[in-house]
This record gives sequence, C-alpha cells and structure tokens, in this order.
Amino acid sequence: MHTTAKIQELRRATNPLFNDRKLKLGTFCTNLNGGCAISTIPGTLEITWPNTVRLAQIADAMEFEAVVPVGRWKGFGGVTNFNGAGFECFSWAAGIGAVTKYPAVFATSHVPMYHPALAAKQATVIDHISNGRHAINIVGGWNQGELDMFGARMQDHKDRYARAAEWIEIMIGLWTCENEFTYEGQYYQVKKGALAPKPIQQPYPAIMNAGGSEQGQHFSAKYSDIAFIQFDTHDLDFARSKVEKYRRLAREEYGRDIQIWSFGYVVQRETEKEAKDFLHYYVHEKGDWVAAENLMGLLGIGSLAVEDFRKLQAHFMAGWGAFPLVGTKEQVAEGLANLSKVGIDGALLSWPLYEEGVLTFQKDTMPLLKQAGLR
Ligand SMILES: Cc1cc2nc3c(=O)[nH]c(=O)nc-3n(C[C@H](O)[C@H](O)[C@H](O)COP(=O)(O)O)c2cc1C
Repeated sequence: MHTTAKIQELRRATNPLFNDRKLKLGTFCTNLNGGCAISTIPGTLEITWPNTVRLAQIADAMEFEAVVPVGRWKGFGGVTNFNGAGFECFSWAAGIGAVTKYPAVFATSHVPMYHPALAAKQATVIDHISNGRHAINIVGGWNQGELDMFGARMQDHKDRYARAAEWIEIMIGLWTCENEFTYEGQYYQVKKGALAPKPIQQPYPAIMNAGGSEQGQHFSAKYSDIAFIQFDTHDLDFARSKVEKYRRLAREEYGRDIQIWSFGYVVQRETEKEAKDFLHYYVHEKGDWVAAENLMGLLGIGSLAVEDFRKLQAHFMAGWGAFPLVGTKEQVAEGLANLSKVGIDGALLSWPLYEEGVLTFQKDTMPLLKQAGLR
C-alpha cells in the first residue's frame, strides 16, 4: 500500500493535477448546454462537438490542469431546459483526451448509473487515450428525476456513500489486481474480475469528489485526491476555516494529504461597473428563474426565508452557486489570489458567454496570474 505522498509522486509523471503550480485551474461544465449560466441571453454555450473541443483546446493552450464535465441525464426545465442537452461524460472524456495534450481529462460518474467494473474499463481506455491524464469525479446521486431513468432509488446519505465506497474500492481493485479480483460487498459482488491492460497512470487514475454532506466529506477525505468545497458565504475567513477543517479531517482521521479545490464563475469587463451591469442583466433580467428553482428543489434547498432563497437562486443562475469572480481583470486575478491565500489548491472556472469569456481570460488575466506567482 502506497502513502498518499508516494501515490501523488507516481501520478505526477503523467497527470498535471499533481504539478507544482500554486493555483491549479480547470474549466467546468463545457459538455452541457448553457455551461453554468442559467440564463436566456443569446451566446451561452450551445453544445456541439466543435464547440466543446474548442473550449478544451483553449484550456489546453493555457495549460489548465483540468477539464471537468458535469454528469447530467436530463435538464432542469424552465424556458431553457437548463443543461438538458449534453454529452455523456466518459465518451466525452475519451474524445477530449484525444484532442488535448496537457489537462487532466475528467469523467463524472454517477454511482447508480454505471457498474464499477464497466466504469473501471472505460476509465482505463480514457487513461490510455490521454496518456495517463484521466481523473474520475464520483457523484453519489441526488437527482431523483435522473435516477428514475435507471429505475434506481435515491438512498439516504449514509447508504449513498457506503455504496460509493464499495464502488471505488472495486474500481481500484480492478485497476491494480495482478490476477483475479473478487469482491463481496453489501451492494456489489464481483467474482473473478479481470482488467487488462492496466491504466497508464500509476498507481491508478486520480479521484475527485464534491460531496458537501458530512458523509460526503468523510468519503472525500478517505478516497479522493481532490475534494471540492462549495462555500456557503464568500467571507474569506470562513473559507479559510472550512479549508483547514477539511484538511484536518483527511489528515487526522484518514492519514491522507489531499488537495482542496473550489469553483468560481468569471464575469470580467473593462470596468467593475460594466461587469456588475452584465451580471445583473444575464441573471436578474434574463435569468431562467424556473430552471434555477427546480435545480434548487432537487438539491433539497427549500427551507430558507424568501429573500435568502431568491439571493441564492440568483447565485445559481450566475454560475451554479460558485465563488463570484466579478470585475476587471485585476479584480478577477485578485479573487483567485484570495482563494489561493485561504488554502485552495485549485479552482474550476466557468463563464456565462463561455468562449468569449475564456479567450479574454487567456489574453488579459492569465498574465496577471503569472506575475502574481500563482501560475
Ligand atoms: C465542482 C462540483 C462538481 C460536481 N459535479 C456534479 C456532476 O457532474 N453531477 C452531479 O449530479 N452532481 C455534481 N456535483 C454535486 C456533488 O457531487 C454532490 O452530490 C453535491 O455537492 C451534494 O453533496 P452530498 O452528495 O454530500 O449531499 C458537483 C458538485 C461540485 C461542487
């Protein structure tokens, strides 16, 4: 059994997630219509293969460490049917792995929708296509409408993550077994399993999880290389204490050093006023309030005062409830520097007008991040 330090040293040989950059970066949700902006404005991401490839290649040119798709099986309704059209994550990752050189190419896997023996085999193909740059985002399954498509039942958090633990243990078992792999669990049984060839990445592909619940955080601390934090407020002291608490949990309870990432949405303009005006326009004037409310309902967010609910709803429409990076290029760079200062290792980014936004970021903001020593 390797220590986490040894595992990360092995992975570093092929996977940029383990490089030395102070703040690692990635794109989020470039495989679904709308990306992360729940808005009716023209120009949000329209999912075609050329569009998604172009975004991945821009990320590649900037040496972003990650391209992370979102696992989605049906949209959230409203006039946009937000995220309704999109590419399935494993097949998307296989294609994107073939047309990029640098970033870790993620597949997001809903535990109830993929048998782990199938997922382990598919992930291995992606790892070969990308020459050892694959990573898996494990999602327990919180969306009953999607689970219904598979005749699956939503489990409580305890069972959901207990099943996810068996799921990943089977993946790791198949990726690393020398001979036959047999597993007798409560949710899965594998008899005389085999997997060849093995993944290129050693000892096996990187693992990410974004569970927010108590059980989700324990799962991440125990199994993942990268845990995702979603901040409930954007107060930096609060963020710092949340990051530190997470690191302590992983170290003290599981003897592991893991990376902690978060995600942000970027609204960048020449002036702060222009950025704020544009945010107001695509969210408050043109947001798809119904889709956002449906999404929040499925996430179980309901017991808030009306005013707080509306604020959070606007925040979801702006960029899936991520950390706001709104203003001039200097302000966006400062926002990312602040995330780094509170202990975040990496951030996934999205833009409401994806391609235009990411190109501006490449031209104007990346040089500032380099100057600041973050990249
Ligand atoms: C960065 C990030 C990526 C996520 N990706 C997906 C996804 O692709 N599909 C999905 O259904 N849920 C996704 N989630 C939801 C989480 O996996 C998780 O289920 C959610 O945060 C609730 O946590 P819990 O399961 O511990 O209650 C994502 C969350 C974050 C913060």
